[in-house]
Amino acid sequence: MNIFITKQIPQAGLDLLQEAGITYTIAGKTLPQEELIAQVKQYDALLSAGFVKADAAFLEACSHLKVLSLFSVGYDNVDMAAATRLGIPVGNTPGVLSRATADTAFLLMLAVSRKAFYNYHKILDGKWQEFEPVADLGIELYGKTLGIFGLGKIGYEMAKKCRAAFDMQVIYHNRNPNPEAEKELEARYVSFDELLAQSDVLSVHANFSPETKGLFNKEAFAKMNPGSIFINTARGGLHNESDLKEALDNQTIWGAGLDVTNPEPMNPGNPLLKMPNVCVLPHIGSATVETRNAMAVMAAKNAIAGLKGERLPTVVNAAVYEK
Ligand code: DGY
Repeated sequence: MNIFITKQIPQAGLDLLQEAGITYTIAGKTLPQEELIAQVKQYDALLSAGFVKADAAFLEACSHLKVLSLFSVGYDNVDMAAATRLGIPVGNTPGVLSRATADTAFLLMLAVSRKAFYNYHKILDGKWQEFEPVADLGIELYGKTLGIFGLGKIGYEMAKKCRAAFDMQVIYHNRNPNPEAEKELEARYVSFDELLAQSDVLSVHANFSPETKGLFNKEAFAKMNPGSIFINTARGGLHNESDLKEALDNQTIWGAGLDVTNPEPMNPGNPLLKMPNVCVLPHIGSATVETRNAMAVMAAKNAIAGLKGERLPTVVNAAVYEK
């Protein structure tokens, strides 16, 4: 049994593979799609760390795969219908990265509210001058309203932190109500328009899908309040970047914090990077030692199960077993 791994992953995952008698090859760099397909054809399984585009053409070319194990919770880069049709089980890493990703959303919220990245750059640019009572003031978060778009595991962790740290009121919009959040965090379900209108901080934690693509656009930003902060740690495709820039320029909203952009990586010349009320990070949501170790273990367990012909512990396309 062998597996192709697209990028170096933590040793904890590799050790598990080795203990299970699975040989692995690590590509270590992003390969052009055709080269990747040619490589993957020589292996029984693929562990994809780094958003390989597993579209229908890729999956058809690699239909021999016993398992596609993703080193991510997100699976928007996989054509799941094609994987299911071709009988390829796809695994992901839910749960283990919720706290780290919510930490990143919280970090961005606080950083934006105090213009932290902009002020840091003032030091680097030699612009730290005398104390100025009214220069570059931030805004406080105490008692404000946090709106969560997509209240799953990550959104829940973000809401919990915001309640504990700033006694924020929580409202949310989801496909389905979240009774646990309503009970534990006094979260209140609202319509999408109410979420936009009532949030002082609107944090996005939903999956990227055709339904959520570009949902945060000019029309949506226009419904937000001028003192509000927009945070996205989910996928860059959920917001329209030029509409966001315009909303910030026109002070339709107050600020924005992004851990995800579209495209990634963001161009270093992007004007958002120069805006005082904007903080951007390079998709580091799950980037802690603890979380990446846990993701490696989970991805390895999915791979091992798939290679043994067993059900993946965290399968995305459960329908693949119903065929
Ligand atoms: C995920 O797991 O989907 C994250 O975006 C990667 O850190």
